Amino acid sequence: MSKHATHATTDPTTEPPVEHLLEIDDLSDDDLAEIVSSAEDLKQAHHRGEPHAVLPNQSLAMLFEKPSTRTRVSFETGMTQLGGHAVYLGPDTTHLDHGEPVADTARALSRYVDAVMARVFDHDKLAEMAAHASVPVVNGLSDAAHPCQTLADLFTIYEEFDGFEDVSVAWVGDGNNVGQSFAVGSAMAGLDLTMATPDGYEPDEEVLARAADRGPAPKVTHDPETAVADADVVYTDVWVSMGEEDERETKLGDFEGFQVNSDLLATAPDADVMHCLPAHRGEEITGEVLESDRALVWQQAENRMHTQKALLTHLLGEE
Ligand code: CP
Ligand code: NVA
Repeated sequence: MSKHATHATTDPTTEPPVEHLLEIDDLSDDDLAEIVSSAEDLKQAHHRGEPHAVLPNQSLAMLFEKPSTRTRVSFETGMTQLGGHAVYLGPDTTHLDHGEPVADTARALSRYVDAVMARVFDHDKLAEMAAHASVPVVNGLSDAAHPCQTLADLFTIYEEFDGFEDVSVAWVGDGNNVGQSFAVGSAMAGLDLTMATPDGYEPDEEVLARAADRGPAPKVTHDPETAVADADVVYTDVWVSMGEEDERETKLGDFEGFQVNSDLLATAPDADVMHCLPAHRGEEITGEVLESDRALVWQQAENRMHTQKALLTHLLGEE
């Protein structure tokens, strides 16, 4: 019997505590190592066409308040490949968007599915969902964090550098949800991270403190050139995240000088470039850099599926 397979049919109040992934540091260092190693195995099995249906008959509810290409499709195909099933609940498809409380939604879904993945505007909604769900809740992106992205990012770096040792990464741009989870995750992996953001767009102090609790503290600067000099990897994300459309004009001005382009990369000629996608060519990154051989973005996007399958196996698989 799986760790959570009984939740849909038995009284959740008698079940042991449930493991959620709301933030990347909900994972222990051992969990992270296990997920990276399992993602490697699952990726090989997938590429060789070997069946790996280790979660037969398990179901995942996928709640989305915002659009998604990668997160939705990688979770859905991932569940299918694991022998399970995913239910897409897009914006405006459930009663959650029409006044049904988060707690009631969480309790109802827990009676049907083995895990819930949710993409929400407000991170607090995830915490409330987790407080009332009797199955694992996975953050598929909130205003504060994108831990599933970080799993794929770390696995991509691990693949490229044969591990995490002596790898230095420059984050250039907004200290946003993707950057915040990456800051904590890279500390957990032991990466040397420097984040260059415009003044006022640094990751939250609380996030930086959590990162420092788990590994090498990320360095923060307002000078992209300092961050990028001699980096092994340069990582950026959009300047205007979903839900921030009203701030667009202000942010485009504030982020001037933070574009990842060939001039900025001149001091890191061998650096790989990462982007979680979708990218806005001509804003945070040039089309030239994104389309160049140094960009790992498609590998990163593919790795969303392998790392999430590893995560689901970790949360739902056999003990
Ligand atoms: N990187 C990422 O989460 O992409 P989607 O918005 O397409 O899911
Ligand atoms: N920071 C971006 C990431 C999209 C995957 C956003 O929140 O819109």
